[in-house]
Amino acid sequence: MREAPRTVTLAFTGASGMPYGMRTLECLLAADIAVYLLYSQAAQIVARQEMDLSLPARPREAEALLAERYRVKTGQLRVFGREEWFAPVASGSNPADAMAICPCSMGTLAAVACGLADNLIERAADVMLKERRPLVLVPRETPLSAIHLENMLRLAHAGAVMLPANPGFYHHPGAVQDLVDFVVARVLDQLRVPHQLMARWGSQPSQDEA
Ligand SMILES: Cc1cc2nc3c(=O)[nH]c(=O)nc-3n(C[C@H](O)[C@H](O)[C@H](O)COP(=O)(O)O)c2cc1C
Repeated sequence: MREAPRTVTLAFTGASGMPYGMRTLECLLAADIAVYLLYSQAAQIVARQEMDLSLPARPREAEALLAERYRVKTGQLRVFGREEWFAPVASGSNPADAMAICPCSMGTLAAVACGLADNLIERAADVMLKERRPLVLVPRETPLSAIHLENMLRLAHAGAVMLPANPGFYHHPGAVQDLVDFVVARVLDQLRVPHQLMARWGSQPSQDEA
């Protein structure tokens, strides 16, 4: 069993599902993990559309805004722009302990599957694969084309975890937040980050026993 990570790279891309990404960020920070946050231009559009959230184009402004929102200590959250090649995550000599792309667009998924490394998100993911570190992708698209499926298979063969944003219903969700937490709980499990977002299957008395 791997230890909990001390540093995690979290990337938001332009797929629907920004509440998953923001909740993951909140949980990582609450778990006292140092987070390197990256987001694409399309992610900024989706954040505004889905959450009325304005993610600043300037990384330093984003750091200040999010540090205040989540009340984190200086330095726990660092935000990097798409071409900040001096960021630690750009190199195999200093990668984070684990990385998640949540939500993950089919465009970024394809770029990572092909090893393009054309922006910092793609490069950071490429580094995780080559260094054999945990990389979790949370794609959101439906239906899936043969190209999407082949890219996902390629990534799975390369060692990435494909974790589609597919919430289950067996825990009787009562609110949208329950559906979000279902997916985020699975992401945190893959990253080995402790959490208590929802009860684990079999850990509570069944309805017959109750
Ligand atoms: C509101 C909105 C929702 C979108 N939802 C998805 C989606 O669920 N999945 C997807 O692959 N692309 C989706 N897209 C399209 C991507 O944002 C687009 O392909 C973009 O180029 C991805 O760029 P990125 O990978 O650099 O973030 C959406 C775009 C918008 C504006």
